[in-house]
Amino acid sequence: MEKIKEIKQNLKNILDPTSKKSFDETQAIKHVGIDKENNTVMLVIEVTEKNPEVVKEITREIAKVIKINMGFTGVKIDFVEKKKEKSGPKTILIASGKGGVGKSTVTANLAYALMRLNKNVAVIDADVYGANMPKILGGMDHQLVGNKDGKIYPFVKDKIQMVSTEYLVEKNQALLLRGPMLNKVLKLFFEDTLWNGEIDYFLVDLPPGTGDIMLDMRTFTKDPKLLLITTPQSNASHIAIKAGYASKKLGQELIGVIENMSYYEIDGKKHFIFGQGGGQEVADELNVELLGQIPIVPSESSIYSESENAGIIYLSLANKIMKLV
Ligand SMILES: Nc1ncnc2c1ncn2[C@@H]1O[C@H](COP(=O)(O)OP(=O)(O)OP(=O)(O)O)[C@@H](O)[C@H]1O
Ligand SMILES: [Mg+2]
Repeated sequence: MEKIKEIKQNLKNILDPTSKKSFDETQAIKHVGIDKENNTVMLVIEVTEKNPEVVKEITREIAKVIKINMGFTGVKIDFVEKKKEKSGPKTILIASGKGGVGKSTVTANLAYALMRLNKNVAVIDADVYGANMPKILGGMDHQLVGNKDGKIYPFVKDKIQMVSTEYLVEKNQALLLRGPMLNKVLKLFFEDTLWNGEIDYFLVDLPPGTGDIMLDMRTFTKDPKLLLITTPQSNASHIAIKAGYASKKLGQELIGVIENMSYYEIDGKKHFIFGQGGGQEVADELNVELLGQIPIVPSESSIYSESENAGIIYLSLANKIMKLV
């Protein structure tokens, strides 16, 4: 163990020739192992760009340290290339198949978690007929204001920006839209909203099912990623699987599954009120990761604070999602 620490310490000032940053700064050392029998060190090194020159230069520098300075007989290095970060805003669609499993609650809490991680977040309530984001995030009395060019300003709460059809209709009125009008509303949200600053993440709260709005996402979003929400019950998971396949057909990349209302915790003991396994089943069937399990939270507020268990789970989820999209 001590030897491994020593190796890391001795390698930390080697430079990645592309970024000109040290291994320490780029966290380039991904793994260190020692084959005692052959007195050989095994390394996994992450580089900004993997090309023959980079490999040669780093291998030479590492060999100097490991063989000459530290006296090992040999060193084996696996080079992996750093995933390139795509620039520009990222769009995450939140879908479920079945209604009422917690899409809107998950969307809102993810928005908060990303905001707490200093990201600029916009929420699009694309559940045009059953909009309830304003119930969760607030601003029920807000009315969307447009400028003379027909652009609208989003509602803002705690730095999270949001648009919803709830803001387009009189209180307690439903929006009765068909094809072309529905398209106009989505255009207003996706193309004619004056967002404040550069948006890092657009979170799109989809309606249940795999209807028109999910299809329309092809027109309005570029390279969207999909998050599937399910509860542990099989009546939710089997529809989530269908929604997952539908999104694959539409070319939307599924990044993972979140199981909501997974358990109820009392005195540190988990009670699986709605059964177990739905989230894992969806993830396995669609070949993606089960990113997290959210407990049942008996709370008046649908937004969980940073200090409560569910809020902490959302922070870790947001961290995972940021790496995936
Ligand atoms: N983890 C949870 N613990 C307790 N209650 C929850 C949890 N998640 C969601 N709820 C509650 O369940 C109900 C449904 O949640 P939500 O509206 O987020 O689901 P939805 O999938 O968006 O529904 P719809 O399909 O109608 O859009 C809400 O009353 C919400 O407060
Ligand atoms: Mg909803």
